[in-house]
Amino acid sequence: MDIEPLAGREYFPAISKFTYLNAASIALMFKGACEAAVAWQRDLAENGTLGFDEAAEQSVFSGVHEAFARLIGATARDIAVGSSFTELVASLAWAMMPARPENIVGVDVVFPSTIYPWLRVANTTGCEIRLLRTNDYYADENELAGLIDDNTAVVAISHVEFGSGQRYDLQRLAEVAHSHGALLAVDATQSAGAIPIDVSRDGVDILVAAGYKWLCGPFGAAVMYVAPHLQTRFEPGLAGFRSHTDMWDLRADRIQYRDDAGRFEFGTMAYGCALGLAEAIKFILSLGVDAVCAHDFKLRTRLAEGLKQRGAQLLSPVEDTECSPIVSARFAGFSSRRLVDSLRQQDVIVSPRADFVRFSPHLYNSSDDIDHALEVLDRALAP
Ligand SMILES: Cc1ncc(COP(=O)(O)O)c(C=O)c1O
Repeated sequence: MDIEPLAGREYFPAISKFTYLNAASIALMFKGACEAAVAWQRDLAENGTLGFDEAAEQSVFSGVHEAFARLIGATARDIAVGSSFTELVASLAWAMMPARPENIVGVDVVFPSTIYPWLRVANTTGCEIRLLRTNDYYADENELAGLIDDNTAVVAISHVEFGSGQRYDLQRLAEVAHSHGALLAVDATQSAGAIPIDVSRDGVDILVAAGYKWLCGPFGAAVMYVAPHLQTRFEPGLAGFRSHTDMWDLRADRIQYRDDAGRFEFGTMAYGCALGLAEAIKFILSLGVDAVCAHDFKLRTRLAEGLKQRGAQLLSPVEDTECSPIVSARFAGFSSRRLVDSLRQQDVIVSPRADFVRFSPHLYNSSDDIDHALEVLDRALAP
């Protein structure tokens, strides 16, 4: 059965140029997001503070606060905006500063930036970094839960792994973490926009996402959810004029932090990127993240079956409870990097990661894209 794109070329003009299966690296950007980011820069260049005045700067994040809150079952006060995922997590890690004899629990195949900010703090404080050893990129969730103990300060995981696409049960991990007095900090960079998330239902404490993957936003903006019970508990690792309760007060002799997640917003940034991200998230909300997920899962199933028929060894879990739109595979006797290059020569865009090929279809893709990628792969695999 044919699977039509959920959003066509009027929203993602690039889809007519190539077969783009690379959202886990950088998704195609929603046209309205690009326009909003560019319009902000142009207005600044042409009008300075006549266009972007103090009131506009103060409220510049409200659209993205509201949109991301709706996407994940939170309220606007629970959301902070930063320039990147890493910046927000670094501020959080220095805010919490877990120290010996505490530990941070994670997984050894996670994207490095999910754990490096904690590692950096641990190098100063003596906190233990305790990473689950995976077996061929697969993490056993029971074993992961088993690493959490009464000294665990934070369980720092990625909702969906960037390599294998394995997805974890956030509710379960939150329950285990909380039963030991630990917090669950989730990297949703590889899930937000493609997988439904409900932080309130699942009891997630912190959730951070970059904007340029499954949310289809620009580089230069990322979002962080901070659960209400934590918003006034920590002093942010990065502080600046925006962290103060009245950002235009501008007195350097004291600081009174905001009483919401916004205390993690500290200064100026390429604000147009946040405006663009708001547009991208609003677009995903208009489609419905459940519909996006159902669409992406249909594509991933077709792709996974096609790859298996061609003798691929799949690294990505196939169970509905553990999978995501990311499908990673290797072919015995073939260099994954060479296969990726061959596909690219035929305008099929995927990524090499470690020793496998990573495919990541999203809302702008169709079953024709999957079938075409498999045909091109056949040629690359032909003797
Ligand atoms: C799971 C995950 N987290 C974070 C990032 C990137 O974070 P940043 O944009 O701050 O470099 C990536 C990028 O691939 C990722 O896959």
